[in-house]
Order: sequence, then structure tokens, then C-alpha cells
Amino acid sequence: MCGIMGYLGGRDTVEVLLEGLRRLEYRGYDSAGVAVLVDGKVEVVKAKGKISVLAEVLKKGKPEGSVGIGHTRWATHGPPSTKNAHPHPDCEGHIAVVHNGIVENYLELREKLQAEGHTFRSETDTETLAHLFEKYYDGNLEKAVRRGLKDVKGSYAVVAVSDRDPGVLVAARQYSPLIVGLGEKTGENFVASDPSAILPFTRKAYLIDNGEMVVLTKDRVEVKTLAGKAVKKRVFHIEWDAEMAEKGGHKHFMIKEILEQPHALRQTIGERISGRGPELHLEELHLTDAYLRRVKKIVIIACGTASYAGMAGQYAVEKLCGVPVIVDVASELQYRECVFDKDTLGIAISQSGETADTLQAMRMARRRGAKLLAVTNVIGSTVARDADGVLYIHAGPEIGVASTKAYTSQVLAMLLFCVHLGVVRGAIKPAAARRLLRGIKRLPDQAQEFLDGQAGHVERLAKKYKNVMRYLYLGRGAHYCTAMEGALKIKEIAYLDAEGYAAGEMKHGPLALVTDEVAIMSAVIEGPHYQKSIGNLQEIRARAGKVIAVANEGDEEIQKYADDVIRIPKTEEALSSVLAGIPMQLYAYHVADLWDREIDQPRNLAKSVTVE
Ligand code: AGP
Repeated sequence: MCGIMGYLGGRDTVEVLLEGLRRLEYRGYDSAGVAVLVDGKVEVVKAKGKISVLAEVLKKGKPEGSVGIGHTRWATHGPPSTKNAHPHPDCEGHIAVVHNGIVENYLELREKLQAEGHTFRSETDTETLAHLFEKYYDGNLEKAVRRGLKDVKGSYAVVAVSDRDPGVLVAARQYSPLIVGLGEKTGENFVASDPSAILPFTRKAYLIDNGEMVVLTKDRVEVKTLAGKAVKKRVFHIEWDAEMAEKGGHKHFMIKEILEQPHALRQTIGERISGRGPELHLEELHLTDAYLRRVKKIVIIACGTASYAGMAGQYAVEKLCGVPVIVDVASELQYRECVFDKDTLGIAISQSGETADTLQAMRMARRRGAKLLAVTNVIGSTVARDADGVLYIHAGPEIGVASTKAYTSQVLAMLLFCVHLGVVRGAIKPAAARRLLRGIKRLPDQAQEFLDGQAGHVERLAKKYKNVMRYLYLGRGAHYCTAMEGALKIKEIAYLDAEGYAAGEMKHGPLALVTDEVAIMSAVIEGPHYQKSIGNLQEIRARAGKVIAVANEGDEEIQKYADDVIRIPKTEEALSSVLAGIPMQLYAYHVADLWDREIDQPRNLAKSVTVE
């Protein structure tokens, strides 16, 4: 899950590539490089480490040219090193490539190419592509790339440059994301992994589909199938602007995105809830009422945080609509073919819309006759394009690797879907639907109320518990997902040992972990599970565990059962997982900041996992 960038035009090519790569750095940040055509030669400069390291190296010698490619890496084959960094040249250095994805049959290809006399310099799967294009090169880079890719199994977004085809870049896509940026002014074009890289330069784009190739010059962009057939593309206007993808004075993107949640939630509601009723408008689903009435089962397809948003949706849909919902991580769901059939609706939840495991499970669901609804943040992403209907969350660009505003917006989107489904199936009566919609409409203000009222308190608690090295996160019903999400946040950014559990599971084993060195974070929200959740806290405090409870404003009872309490505004229990997720994010953020962690780019992780 690397980031790739290409440019042709009159600007300072290396600066354009560096700017684009900086905006793609959340996709991988263990090494980086550029290749620029300089006086008929491909000059490659690369370095181990972040883009900032590469930028320092380039200060000592910057290749000047009008065509170049760049890459920021997340290692899959071959450890992070300068030699394994991209771009990878062929034997003579005539062709260089950058790649995002995995060449699954690279070992077999490598052996064959070495037997044919090719010299490999790295341990990567990608270098195979450079030598393949070299093998088939007979004076035309496009033909060489097209022929070379015929031998490749796996996933790729690849861009190639050749000193024998000056002024040309050739790119191709199979599964990994690729977008072309059309110069706002004539004489330049861009190619990149996602919109954030081209935003500073243009908002006009072509979205490249699987099995498509692109031949770019500074004045022309031709899109063709891998077989060579011309493809007419619609110009896509990117909604976001560059400003939205910047830190705006905050210490980290993550805290900026946590504080943006009221706005993100408001954007996700948008015009979908309107009128005095109020009414809900989800025409964009492209799923007929007749179909939704026929649905016998819903299966949520998602990974990581997105799967926890799916669990919140599961709780609400089963409780309010009476439709069984299965939630399983996409990487396992792929092996559970039987859960999908023609009466099953698959709901794919993905912030990036490019997560490979989620896409694979969607393809399997489709093969089994299921219909697909996508809930995603990136307009035009593959998850959106592979689905029958799309419910976009409008959280804006999420740069921090740890998902925050996308999570609460995904939960909110699932609640909107739940109300729509319930009304269509007659499970939710009109009055109840209006009450739920009024409750959902209040969530953005309530999120703001929480941030205004409790953010300082949460920061103080993080200081108080700074030296706690092990956490258990507990939740019941609507808040089982809150516990799982809270644990994931403190694991992925603070690197602390934490587990999320259904609170009722504690006495079946995890209670053995409780000592006075363990802190328990538990959402205890007024509703059907309140008393049992209190019971769990008593079990823990009886064993000296320290309890931080997330509870409702005005709940005086909870104080007796917790060492510290974080209060969220009152709302319907089924809606409360939107609000309860925020203290979990904020607490993890402050603990990680106290440990001076790389919060926006945690070790070993990346924002969009485009390989299986
Ligand atoms: C969450 O903070 C992580 N970045 C990760 O678990 C993420 O949710 C998961 O990789 C799914 O990503 P997606 O929503 O883009 O599909």
C-alpha cells in the first residue's frame, strides 16, 4: 500500500513529485524515490525513510526535467532499504517503474528473467516489472508495458518512464487505485494513487478502472484497455480542496480530524434528513423498497475500524428492523461463501474505498448473487464503483492513519440506513422514525458539546493514567463496538497492550487479567444493558482494577462504580455509539501524545491497505 505519483509539464518536476508524495505518505512511509528524465537519461534518486529524508538528499542534487515519477513505500517484499526503494530501473537504466500492489508470481518471473540474463538489484517483486518491460521493449513503451503485464499475476498500479520515449508516461491498473489529474492549465498532466496527491494542482480527474492503461504526455491523456481498445472517460471533479487535506495549525492530523467530527457528521447528514417531520431521503441507495422488503439477511463486509462501525449498524438494524446481520472481518469473510446468496444484502464499509480484503469479499458476494451497498468516504473509489448503491459519508479527507471522523460518520450512515430499512419494512413506525431522525440530527451538536465540555477532562485523565501499560475495553449491546474501537485506537497509536471485550465475556476468562496495574475503559450508557454493565464494573473493582467509565450526563449512579467518569450527552441508546466513540479516540490520542508517538503515521501501519 504504497503511494505513486507521475508528472509531465513545465513546473519543477521534483517539487511536484515531492508535494504529491507528501500527501500520499499516509499510504506508506519506509522509503521513497523519484526518477526524472534528464537530457535523455532516466535519473533515479531514492532513500530509506520518510519523504523528508529524500527531500534532504535531493537538496544535494536535484535532477531537472519535465517528466518524472515518484514513490513512497510500505514494504511487502524486501525490507525497507535504499536498494528496495522505488523507482526500480531495468538492467541498462532505460526504463524505470513505480508500483503499488503485489506481483504474486514474481519469483517465477524473476528466475526466468535472470535465466535470460537480466540482473536484479533488489529483493522486491516490483523490479520484475522493469525487467519485463525491458524484455518486451521494441521501440514503444506502451507496447512493452502492455505485453509485459500479460505475464503478471497480482495487483498493480504501475507507472513507467523510458528515456527512449521522452515526454511519455505509461500507467496501468489492476486492483490497486489509480487516478489521472488533468492539468487545469494546458501543457501538464498528473497520475497518482489517490486524489489527495493531485489536489494542490488540479481538481479535474479521470478515475482509472481495473484493466485500464493510460498513455500520458504533457498535452494528451489516452485511456485504453489492457488489450488496447480506446476508453472514453468522463471528467470527474474532486469535491475536496487542498486546504482540507492540510493540518490547519493542529499538532497532528488525528486531533484535527477528531475535532472536525461535528462538521463531518453534519456533512454526512446533509440534505438526507429534512422537513418538519423530519423525513429521510436516501434515494441514492439505488436499492428499491421491494428489494429491501425481500432481503432476508445483511452481511457487513469491512476491516478494522470500519468493521466496528459495522457492529454498531448490526446492533441498530437487528434491534430496530429485526433483520439478522452478520459482521465478520473481510479477510475471513472471503472463506465463508455460504453466508451470501441472492436474498442477502452485502454492505461494504470502507473509509478509503480501496481496502483489498474488502474488495475481494465484495467480489465473492457478487458471485454468490448478493446485492452490494457501499458506505465509503472517497467518491469514485473502487468499493463505490463495485457496488449497486453507495451511501457516501462526507467526512472530508482523513489523513491520520487512525480512523476517527470516518468511524463516527460511518456509524451515523449505518443509522440512517437502519431507519430507512425499518420504515420500508414497516418495522419502524412513522413516529418512531421521526424521533430517531430528530435524535440523529442532534448528534453533530452533541458531539460539539462533548468536545467543548469534556476534551480538557479527557486530556487530564490521559495524564493521570499515563503509566498504565495494559487496558481492557468493555461494552455491551450498542457499545460492544465502542469497546473494540477504543482498544484498537490505543493499540495502533500508543502501541499499548489493549483488548476489547463484550463485557459479559469477562467472567469467562479475561477477568484473570485484572490487577491494580490494568485500567478498564467501559462505555456504560443508560439503556437495556446499564445494570449488567454496572455489574461488570463491580466484578472488576472487586479485583482492584481501575475503571474509567464513559457515561451519560446526569447519571449520578455511575460515580459509585468508577474511578473516573467521562460524560457524553444523552441520546437514544441505539444512536449513542456515535458519541461514545469520540472519548475513546481523544483518550488514546492524548496517551499517545504523552508517549510522543508518531500519531499520524504509526509504525508498521498505513492508511489504505491495498494488498491482501
Ligand atoms: C483504523 O484506524 C485503521 N486505519 C484500520 O483499521 C482501518 O480501519 C482499516 O484498514 C479499514 O480501512 P478502510 O476503512 O479504508 O477500508
